[in-house]
Amino acid sequence: MAKITKAVIPAAGLGTRVLPATKSIPKEMLPIVDKPAIHYIVEECVRSGITDILIITSRGKASMEDYFDRSPELEERLRASGKEALYREMVEISQMANIQYLRQKETKGLGHAVLQAKAFAAGDPIAVLYGDDVVISPPGKEAIGELAAAYETYGLGVVGIKEVTPQQILSYSSLAVTPLADRVFKVTDMIEKPAPDKVLSLYSILGRCVLPNEIFDILEATPPGAGGEIQLTDAMKVLTLQKGMTGVNYTGKRYDMGSKLGVLQAIVEVGLSHPEIGENFRDYLKGLAL
Ligand code: UTP
Repeated sequence: MAKITKAVIPAAGLGTRVLPATKSIPKEMLPIVDKPAIHYIVEECVRSGITDILIITSRGKASMEDYFDRSPELEERLRASGKEALYREMVEISQMANIQYLRQKETKGLGHAVLQAKAFAAGDPIAVLYGDDVVISPPGKEAIGELAAAYETYGLGVVGIKEVTPQQILSYSSLAVTPLADRVFKVTDMIEKPAPDKVLSLYSILGRCVLPNEIFDILEATPPGAGGEIQLTDAMKVLTLQKGMTGVNYTGKRYDMGSKLGVLQAIVEVGLSHPEIGENFRDYLKGLAL
């Protein structure tokens, strides 16, 4: 099986669950301590051997392009004031990967956003990392790397899965799964935003998948589904019923940067282990908890 070297990051959604902040700041740019969410996602790609990334953007989201660009005036100032380490860090951000951008002109759903990557994929399989799902993993266990390894082993499309609560499953996807190996499952069916009597299990697709190139033909033939949007889950269901898919309960912890609670959880947990401010932050939280 070919190695996965290309990824698409759909980041064109409206982010209505984090309004009003997302009125003018893309949710993918919300900071987790000192780096925006999308930085963690690109870092996960790079650590997993992905070299080429396509970010799907939309109106008002140009700050993502600025972030991964060079910043001559700032760099000059940092250098001139002897802040060499910070200068190097800024330059390295622009060199993390080969990043391209493409606008989704209408917000027609995650499936429609992924379909924009057809020419970029150019016949290859593709990793998909949802732009508002940050996964923090121990070194060497990056979520998309674990999924790519399962793609190479089993030769089928792979979805990143986690168990969610009975309440959450109604607004997520629900999967029928049977165990294959440690943390690895065969996926036999799936449904997006199931009615309570249509729930297949509490396993849901959370934020990551690796898809064979056939997904683009399937997406082109997928009609709008839940919410009037072209749902990636509907296309993956076709793939599942045709060939089967693999589910990987990835090691890392996922934070939903598209929800207010998720943003806070990410900031608190990353903050606690941050080398610069972690200790002071822990003391601060202890003080608050008294
Ligand atoms: P979500 O459904 O969580 O994003 O899509 P949203 O539409 O911004 O959410 P609300 O408005 O708070 O409910 C998951 C991922 O797919 C992207 C989003 O940016 C997010 O990263 N997406 C969604 C697109 O790129 N295009 C779309 O048309 C919809």
